[in-house]
Amino acid sequence: MLRNDQLDQWDRENFFHPSTHLGQFARGEAPNRIIKTAKGSHIVDRDGNKLLDAFAGLYCVNVGYGRQEIAEAIAEQARELAYYHAYVGHGTEASITLAKMVLDRAPDHMSKVYFGLSGSDANETNVKLIWYYNNILGRPEKKKIISRWRGYHGSGLMTGSLTGLDLFHKKFDLPLAQVLHTEAPYYYRRPDLNMSEGEFVAHCVSELEALIQREGPDTIAAFIGEPALGTGGLVPPPAGYWEAIQTVLNKHDILLVADEVVTGFGRLGTMFGSEHYGLKPDLITIAKGLTSAYAPLSGSIVSDKMWKVLEQGTDENGPIGHGWTYSAHPIGAAAGVANLKLIDDLNLVQNAGEVGAYLNKTMKDALADHPHVGDVRGEGLMCAVEFVKDRDTRTFFDASEKIGPQVAAALASDHVIARAMPQGDIVGYAPPFCLTHEEADEIIEKTVKAAKTVLG
Ligand SMILES: Cc1ncc(COP(=O)(O)O)c(C=O)c1O
Repeated sequence: MLRNDQLDQWDRENFFHPSTHLGQFARGEAPNRIIKTAKGSHIVDRDGNKLLDAFAGLYCVNVGYGRQEIAEAIAEQARELAYYHAYVGHGTEASITLAKMVLDRAPDHMSKVYFGLSGSDANETNVKLIWYYNNILGRPEKKKIISRWRGYHGSGLMTGSLTGLDLFHKKFDLPLAQVLHTEAPYYYRRPDLNMSEGEFVAHCVSELEALIQREGPDTIAAFIGEPALGTGGLVPPPAGYWEAIQTVLNKHDILLVADEVVTGFGRLGTMFGSEHYGLKPDLITIAKGLTSAYAPLSGSIVSDKMWKVLEQGTDENGPIGHGWTYSAHPIGAAAGVANLKLIDDLNLVQNAGEVGAYLNKTMKDALADHPHVGDVRGEGLMCAVEFVKDRDTRTFFDASEKIGPQVAAALASDHVIARAMPQGDIVGYAPPFCLTHEEADEIIEKTVKAAKTVLG
């Protein structure tokens, strides 16, 4: 195909990019990157630059790029049946098979899966189900949802409210009134440097308990959290956190939503983060890893306990008034079936655990002496490097210095894509599960080099 030399201009004139500085982009002051093709852990832009994608797109291309098995499954589904809806009991071979595969992998106490298209819409579904549940149980006051600062749950009206990052609220009149935020389980950013990990967990618990008491336990419906914080900084929880939080939730009859959009289907080296950290959720949100982003598809997995009440609700009120045209879209479902099969066939969950442990340990060792590296943390194939002005006093850089974005930019110019996380000078890595040890070494060596270029 002939190269279209107007593409850059068309991009800046017509395309409204998400999560982008609109003014700078339109004026040509911010770079664009036009991706042409990809294979394994690498993407290639249209100028022929090959980059190691250490963030798997938006931590979603878990099986890696260019998998013919999934491409074929999508093509075959499109040829045979591109679409049929899932309303009033309709289904397809792909959507029914995928529901069974998801439930086979989910914790035992889960009952059914509702399919949506994105992590955001799956969490919107979850909030509606929680409200419906409490109405059916005759507790119309029990409706507020507690999320954590630095949690990420999407960018819709409700899910943008649940998200605990300033950028997603500012000037959008969010969060909505039904949403409350509590302390993030972020030990490195503990309020008092002298706190032990155990003391910090106790602090998180007492903050949550105080919030519940202030609002009234009878007004709190649910608590939502990622098993390990993702977009808020890639932070595994401190030891004992989930056990202690769940004790509080159980005491006040508060539902737990495990948002496993990032952790679901293997990123932590286990099938689900709930299994990894001992969560017993009432709802599980899934998306990205369900299809490895070969097609848009998400899901809300509903527990037995909630399912019984939903059934009672429709016995009393008629069919559930919730659904999207594209719920359980057959092309997404076909991609999901092929993707989950590939994850099993290639042992990718195990590889994520093994190569992830290597990446995290080697990254930590390689940056141990850097005076501006305050923290290196991670779990499975999730890793973060946090930069600080002074690591002894844990003094952060001013955000205007853009240290995180500068390190990510230095890495990109060295052909490795890492992500400058949106809040703090945190550079994040969440590569595809097929990452090799050699590719992990390349990420680490180039990170050390980029840190030196930006900070000396
Ligand atoms: C934990 C979590 N939940 C929900 C979402 C929202 O998913 P989507 O961007 O598909 O709407 C994301 C996206 O990154 C996420 O990381």
